[in-house]
Amino acid sequence: MIKLESIEKVYRTEQVETVALSNINFAVDEGEFISVMGPSGSGKSTLLNVIGLLDEPTAGDLSLNGRPINSYADRYLARIRNEEVGFIFQSFHLIADLNVVDNVEIPLLYRRGLSGKERRAMALKALNRVGLSSRVRHFPSQLSGGQQQRVAVARAIVAQPHILLADEPTGNLDSQMGDEIMGIMQQLNEEGTTIVMVTHDQRLADHTGRTVRLFDGRQVQ
Ligand SMILES: Nc1ncnc2c1ncn2[C@@H]1O[C@H](COP(=O)(O)OP(=O)(O)O)[C@@H](O)[C@H]1O
Ligand SMILES: [Mg+2]
Repeated sequence: MIKLESIEKVYRTEQVETVALSNINFAVDEGEFISVMGPSGSGKSTLLNVIGLLDEPTAGDLSLNGRPINSYADRYLARIRNEEVGFIFQSFHLIADLNVVDNVEIPLLYRRGLSGKERRAMALKALNRVGLSSRVRHFPSQLSGGQQQRVAVARAIVAQPHILLADEPTGNLDSQMGDEIMGIMQQLNEEGTTIVMVTHDQRLADHTGRTVRLFDGRQVQ
């Protein structure tokens, strides 16, 4: 489902060259839930961004759903990303001016052939899925951190992606709220979503099928 072969990512500026990822090789099967751990700066976010087609590797091969990603032509990539991948971030990334249901509808705005009514129905279904049906008209600032992250999860799953990528999704939450988010992700995984989660929390990593560990951009055992 996700396959990385000899993936390298080098950030170059005029002054410095940073090797963010070096010789990364692993595969994630359909339906797996894996965690990625490593110290700050070890390349975890870069790895997730490469898998999620937000960032182009400098070298190596990536395939998603058996489809090699070798053309980084923008429109093609944006479509695969929109259809195959959902993202959750540590700091929620909700739009403050939009209410909850409008935030959740955002990924659907890029889908052709959906009416406003259909979009709304899909967003409400995703919000129900994360237990937020009673907060659909609230604005992000009116919600707790855990609720905001649940909105972000609803937004990530509203277009029913096969792959969910989560970058320290519980990093800004207390442990109870973090456990709630983890519980929702586990349910999504049981229903078939493939998940790659970056975490600093060994306790959460223990609940995933296996852990990929990074150090200085390299995979370690
Ligand atoms: N856009 C960028 N430009 C230059 N260097 C970057 C950029 N993004 C990340 N890096 C560098 O790549 C390395 C890995 O970063 P990152 O993937 O964010 O690590 P982590 O998520 O594990 O903390 C770091 O040394 C970081 O400074
Ligand atoms: Mg990071």
